[in-house]
Amino acid sequence: MSAASFPEGFVWGVSTSAFQIEGATTAGGRGPSIWDGFSADRAEACDHYHRHAEDVRLMKDLGIAAYRFSVSWARVIPDGRGKVNAAGLDFYDRLVDELIAAGITPYATLYHWDLPQALEDGGGWPVRDTAHHFADYATVVHERLGDRVGTWFTVNEPWVASFLGYGSGIHAPGRTSTADAFMSAHHMLLAHGLGVQALRAAGASEVGAALNISPVLTPAQVSDFGRELTEEDTEAVTRIDALVNRQFLDPMLRGAYPADLVPLIERHAGLGHVRDGDLDVIAQPVDLLGVNYYAPLVVQAQPSEPADPAFPGSEGVLFCTVPTAVTAMGWPIVPGCLSQLLGRLSREYPQTELLITENGADFVDVATGDGIHDLERIGFIEEHLRALKTAIDDGANVRGYFVWTLLDNLEWTDGYQRKFGLVHVDFATQRRRPKDSARWYRDVIARNGLPGTRARRPTLETVAARAHVSRATVSRVVNGETSVSPEVRATVMRAVRELGYVPNAAARSLVTRRTNTVALVLSVPRQGGDPLTAAVVQYVTSMLEGAGKQITLMLADTAESHRRIVSHVEGRLSDGVVLLPPDRGDTLAERLSRTGVPIVLLGKPAVASLVPYVDVDNAGGAAAATEHLVARGRRRIGMVCGPMDLISIQDRLAGHRAALHRAGLRPLLTPADGYTRASGAAAARRLIEDNPSLDAIFAAGDQLAIGALRAARKAGRRVPDDLAIVGFDDIDAASATTPPLTTVRVPVAEQALALARLLMSRLDGGHATSVVLPARLVVRDST
Ligand code: FCB
Repeated sequence: MSAASFPEGFVWGVSTSAFQIEGATTAGGRGPSIWDGFSADRAEACDHYHRHAEDVRLMKDLGIAAYRFSVSWARVIPDGRGKVNAAGLDFYDRLVDELIAAGITPYATLYHWDLPQALEDGGGWPVRDTAHHFADYATVVHERLGDRVGTWFTVNEPWVASFLGYGSGIHAPGRTSTADAFMSAHHMLLAHGLGVQALRAAGASEVGAALNISPVLTPAQVSDFGRELTEEDTEAVTRIDALVNRQFLDPMLRGAYPADLVPLIERHAGLGHVRDGDLDVIAQPVDLLGVNYYAPLVVQAQPSEPADPAFPGSEGVLFCTVPTAVTAMGWPIVPGCLSQLLGRLSREYPQTELLITENGADFVDVATGDGIHDLERIGFIEEHLRALKTAIDDGANVRGYFVWTLLDNLEWTDGYQRKFGLVHVDFATQRRRPKDSARWYRDVIARNGLPGTRARRPTLETVAARAHVSRATVSRVVNGETSVSPEVRATVMRAVRELGYVPNAAARSLVTRRTNTVALVLSVPRQGGDPLTAAVVQYVTSMLEGAGKQITLMLADTAESHRRIVSHVEGRLSDGVVLLPPDRGDTLAERLSRTGVPIVLLGKPAVASLVPYVDVDNAGGAAAATEHLVARGRRRIGMVCGPMDLISIQDRLAGHRAALHRAGLRPLLTPADGYTRASGAAAARRLIEDNPSLDAIFAAGDQLAIGALRAARKAGRRVPDDLAIVGFDDIDAASATTPPLTTVRVPVAEQALALARLLMSRLDGGHATSVVLPARLVVRDST
């Protein structure tokens, strides 16, 4: 075995999940799942349901030995319990036959987050019965596929499904209750145990679960794993490790919750849901443990820090930004953590065979005429494979490695903007094109090991060769010198973009001059004369000018302007960037953050990222508005949603939904296609027509609410007697309507100031933490 080759029989695979690729959500008798309407993106995904034969061929061409897919529960049992849908099983039957004919071993996951909506309506994962329904479903699927599928995973990443689905609410079903999150986690563990029993009883040969395991480190440990910690930091690290990792590992593999976690569960959810005998069921022996590894969690003790809703009990723990390379998700790239993690699992749970069930990365791919040269993805996978090899050499018992993922797909709440695939998918045409990483992976599989020479990140030389210019010219362009002609600059910047070149620290240190300029990048002004933007421009400008810096205003309204802004920042023509407000389709923030220039955002980015931001508590404000309506006796409450690509609107929707859920009410949502009075009026009219007993409207913005007032009047409904209306933002016009509007006040000046401060501390090289300001309900006569 040469240094870079893997053990004989090592299994090379790819992983996918049903909701993210199948599409066809109403075809062949499938029932609705909690994800169908949750993400604002259409759920057509890769239409794999109809194109599975082509996708299996793609895998065969790549030499993939094993394919981990997930089964959609709602396709097989549309109501989650009871009647089985034979057509749904037929689909998986065909898929498995094709895989086997192509020489690919099927690995099936039974639950990858897409709970049948009917079960959610019956209470979802916080309800114990869901675990029993899962075991019945496992039996049904095994009955049909068990003669050909030997390896089964019960649940995928129960931490994400329970704590993001029921705790922070950023995943479906979007609930925000810490008690529900802990109960869901327990019931998913129970589902795993009951599922293992059911599968074994049915004769399954191999059973396990796939867990997301994130090493938890302090910032100092990221570059020095062995670094000693203070007592406070040790406590912070241990607490987060218990929540994310040991909460699942210990019950499954040791038959007990970690002792340090029990008081935390008890505080948030009581222990009534953990019944005698549950842990024996959960700890059924497994044949293998699937490990999904993407990135570490970086934390440190910080006494004043409030708990993060995804980590209930994390008071006093700060989630940190670290100066490492990151993926487009903003996830730090730390391959060494994979060796660490596998070493730890082998030591602490020595009897368990391991399999890397997911590892991969999202980068901004550039599709050029001659292919998708995704060198960064190749670099990511290669470095992780080296780390994996190190762990195996040190004795870790790892059976194989599965890349996440085969195809660019529907990345949950993030939609189609995320690109994790080895194969590019054009979602307008469904055309598949293997990226360079796919061919590279094919070669790795063929030689059962890594190439002798590393896939190198592009260097100054590579860029120079591609652009047919000298190294010095590239350096001059990258360092923002003006002595280069515009044509040459454009050619060099094109090469930089196509190769995904990021100037490294050494190249950057060549840039000695500070520009004393800060770029203030404004996205399309959507909110018509928006007072927040005006305030930000004013405060940021005056604060920075006070510090002797100039402002360059840049408008990010077209793809071309995005390119211009990225070149500007890559060329180091500004020392820092303030970006407002990002929207979910917008990759500008990530692209800018990859340049290494300090950047701050107004508004939370679509996914947890390492770029610090200032936001208001949109979810909290929406919940307060909704609770107010409930307290005034309203029961049929509609929401006029506004443009769902704005993160703030998504958060308002989540807060509204959560409050309704707590009151035992169902949402009545109507999208508005803009943020204007006219779109608010049109949406409100639909709501009123469709729901004759409607007694309240929550609008995601004041302009929308003012439009709704108008529509109510036209429909002959009296406000507030027949219909109460609440807005959001507290714009000046809100107090001047008839009747004056109840609304949620967003602290405009404070946001602008916080943003300016955040940028100043980033420019000083300081540690910057995101800021979320409270939003307050202002009650007037419309409710
Ligand atoms: C994992 C999920 C998978 C995909 C990747 C990026 O947490 O299991 O479905 O979303 O992250």
